[in-house]
Amino acid sequence: MRVALIGGTGGFGRALALRLREAGYDVVLGSRDAGRAASVAAELGVEGATNADAARAADLVVLTTKAEGAVETARELSDAIGTTPLLSVAAELRFAEEGVLPTGEATSIAQRIQDEVAGPVIAGLHSLAASNLGAEEPPDEDALVCGDDADAKAAVLELAARLTTGRAVDCGPLASARALEGLTAVIVNVNKRYRAHAGVRLTGLR
Ligand SMILES: NC(=O)c1ccc[n+]([C@@H]2O[C@H](COP(=O)([O-])OP(=O)(O)OC[C@H]3O[C@@H](n4cnc5c(N)ncnc54)[C@H](OP(=O)(O)O)[C@@H]3O)[C@@H](O)[C@H]2O)c1
Repeated sequence: MRVALIGGTGGFGRALALRLREAGYDVVLGSRDAGRAASVAAELGVEGATNADAARAADLVVLTTKAEGAVETARELSDAIGTTPLLSVAAELRFAEEGVLPTGEATSIAQRIQDEVAGPVIAGLHSLAASNLGAEEPPDEDALVCGDDADAKAAVLELAARLTTGRAVDCGPLASARALEGLTAVIVNVNKRYRAHAGVRLTGLR
């Protein structure tokens, strides 16, 4: 399967590129800048392209841009993405005196992305910190995934299962994205409070 990482030049995209390459996926790392894509991709041993070219050739598009640019990027690339399934990993955070807060938006980023593209949107991987994902060993934590399209969700769950030594967990419809995105603020607060690199493990699953 060919996976395009849109905005894959950041910390999360790089870590994901390495884990996916290791798992045998065909990875194309995208950037707004073709030169930056080529140099980061060469470092990681994957292919590089502009975001639009990466999206056009993919079986799955993962939107790994800075969260604040995710919805606009999906809108700009909607023709290139076409009906290809898209995975949103984005979570917007607000930094306040009392701590890190989830976004005040009424709908999730994933649902706003779904309004921009024709293919099915899946949301997930929010609780996997780039530093854990890119560590030498796969992280010992679960990967939480939600979405409305059964086939697209199955493909993302299969991919997510290859990233960690924990489980890939189906968290229900795309409406759950609001909770998964919000969980990021919880984890960042925990990391600050305990000087940790926390991840999530669900209990009670067989
Ligand atoms: N970092 C984590 O631990 C972590 C964990 C889970 C999920 N996530 C999610 O993963 C995504 C990427 O996180 P990150 O920390 O890797 O982000 P980042 O380093 O801030 O940004 C990633 C890439 O986004 C592109 N970009 C920046 N501003 C943009 C804009 N306005 N429009 C379009 N593209 C833009 C840049 O690539 P080019 O300049 O090369 O185009 C940049 O290298 C975010 O949505 C975040 O919520 C992150």
